[in-house]
Amino acid sequence: MWTAVVLSSHSRETGGADHGHCWDAKRMRIVHVVGARPNFMKAAPVLRALQRSPEVGQVLVHTGQHYDANMSEVFFAELGIPEPDLNLQVGSGSHAQQTAAIMTGFEPIVLEKRPDMVLVYGDVNSTVAAALVCAKLLVPVAHIEAGLRSFDRTMPEEINRIVTDQLADLLLTPSLDGNENLAREGISEHRIRFVGNVMIDTLVRLLPRAQSKLPDDLPPRYVLVTMHRPANVDDSIFLRELLQTLDEISHEIPVIFPVHPRTRQRIADLGISFSCTARMRLTEPLSYLQFLGLQTRATMVISDSGGIQEETTYLGVPCLTVRENTERPVTITVGTNVLVGRNMVRLGDEVRKILKGGRKASGIPPLWDGHAAERIAAALVNWRPAS
Ligand code: UD1
Repeated sequence: MWTAVVLSSHSRETGGADHGHCWDAKRMRIVHVVGARPNFMKAAPVLRALQRSPEVGQVLVHTGQHYDANMSEVFFAELGIPEPDLNLQVGSGSHAQQTAAIMTGFEPIVLEKRPDMVLVYGDVNSTVAAALVCAKLLVPVAHIEAGLRSFDRTMPEEINRIVTDQLADLLLTPSLDGNENLAREGISEHRIRFVGNVMIDTLVRLLPRAQSKLPDDLPPRYVLVTMHRPANVDDSIFLRELLQTLDEISHEIPVIFPVHPRTRQRIADLGISFSCTARMRLTEPLSYLQFLGLQTRATMVISDSGGIQEETTYLGVPCLTVRENTERPVTITVGTNVLVGRNMVRLGDEVRKILKGGRKASGIPPLWDGHAAERIAAALVNWRPAS
């Protein structure tokens, strides 16, 4: 039986360790803030690129928003991220509680470290909380993955994106739609740099290792599923419908479904039996290498994640996104992504279309080339406050 548990055998990679503790006024002092799973693959290449600049000193702060070993620790080990210098250990809570706990924990660090720049990543609560602290203390902020917009303010991440971009001094965008969105919101072009997609740097670097980590009993064809957005899994009527549709799909093609902690709780709340079978393999959240390996061989991916829309586009694997909108439109216009919304009939139809060989033509968006972190490092080192 194929099982998937948190990897314990990975030794910490040495290449990215020691991120430079040279913290003195002669150097540009940079604090990185990470907190949740999707931050880690974005921070790893930037830490490595800046480590090559002798004029930079770095400190890594983990807010502790994600704290389970398989949501955090395993990513640090596999991605070669050094131990965080500080961990705020905020844990779970309501949005207000979590954001407030991060702000309260991060403020004294900024006051003590007096960084020249704080780097925040993506759109999670840790991102906006750190940006708010810095804005009030007049410490410059750079936002990596700036400018993305779903235009759906019911998503907590959209609020985090809008607020963070308004506050950030340097906005580093992964795609040109990000530049357009920022311009529309009145943000000066002098604050914006199009650097490309830094998450793809991690993918490019680790793809060979991921492909050597595949389980022996992988079926020749399978659908890989992830689902965790509150709009999907906190809605019990929809969640039931979704699970039923996945069950139906599993009769046509095996399904592998690593279950996010939020989703696991919601399925338990429903009190329904949704269990692991030979055709419906439910697993714990997987490590980066395990999950990337599974993506490369998947017949298709069904997901509501942001990052997976991008990874599947790079890999050329069909992705069916269970959302009404996306903040990553380039994955549709250029990539393999198809939005099926919350329409489960449409999801079933699109799955069958792919099974019959119907794949959309796709390509790779500009500057998703594995070198975004180098461009980010150059933008940071050359950055000067507006006079
Ligand atoms: C967060 C991000 C989301 C990102 C996702 C990736 C925000 C607003 N959302 O959503 O953008 O796509 O992470 O996973 O920042 N939990 C655990 N163990 C953990 C972490 C969480 O059991 O290590 C549980 C919590 O108790 C909570 C649930 O999972 O009940 C959700 O965690 P939370 O951090 O609130 O948000 P995510 O849904 O993970």
